[in-house]
Amino acid sequence: MGEHAQKRLIRKLDLERFLATVASQPSPQVHLEQYTVSEQLAANMLYIASYANNDIVGKSVLDLGCGTGRLALGASFLGAKSVVGVDLDTLAIKTASENSKKTDLTKGVQWILGDISTIVGRFDTVLENPPFGVQTREADRPFLVKALEVGVSIYSLHSHPQVDVRLIKQLKDNRGFLQVSASPFLEGFIAKHGGSVIAVYAMLMTIPRMFEFHTKLKHDFVIDLYVIKKKTP
Ligand SMILES: C[S@@+](CC[C@H](N)C(=O)[O-])C[C@H]1O[C@@H](n2cnc3c(N)ncnc32)[C@H](O)[C@@H]1O
Repeated sequence: MGEHAQKRLIRKLDLERFLATVASQPSPQVHLEQYTVSEQLAANMLYIASYANNDIVGKSVLDLGCGTGRLALGASFLGAKSVVGVDLDTLAIKTASENSKKTDLTKGVQWILGDISTIVGRFDTVLENPPFGVQTREADRPFLVKALEVGVSIYSLHSHPQVDVRLIKQLKDNRGFLQVSASPFLEGFIAKHGGSVIAVYAMLMTIPRMFEFHTKLKHDFVIDLYVIKKKTP
């Protein structure tokens, strides 16, 4: 457990402040959809995992496609027993390692440079913000398959099926999340790979202009957090 890991409840605002100190991807690549999760969304995700479902404190946590380590380090900050982050991008892993040192969360934290397919073992909890498949169709699918292979509780971000202006407004107003239904396709895919969808929460993601094709200075869109449990055989 990292030095700052605490078992007492951490306020969401303090978690957001901590996550804001974890540097984002310095030069994101379009084909890997390397946008960093916002601190607000990461805090909501970690809060649900930690305090609604008791899946972080004292647990072994895997962050698939960890980027610069925001989710992994957030889990360590909240008191995960061990954290492994894996990404195939050298700069992402270098930045994650620097973030780890900068935040003094190195104990029990491991960074792996490689493809998610190389990960073996068993983890209590898997966190993932995979590429959504905007650049490469179905890029999120291998992430779900790997998470269900090695994890018990899985928190996976996916694009919301349609643009819903009303939902965006509701989420902007409450800065939180709203429970929505699962996409029948993803639910079926998850069941086929041995998991059940426990809940889906819509959350607002705001990213700054990063790529040439982004026409606005910042972009708001809805992301669905899938809370998944591996079925016991
Ligand atoms: C949307 S970004 C999310 C980064 C980070 N988890 C976050 O939320 O800030 C997806 C990440 O997955 C990584 N990635 C994509 N395909 C991968 C693969 N097959 N194996 C490992 N990492 C992969 C990318 O390099 C990128 O850093």
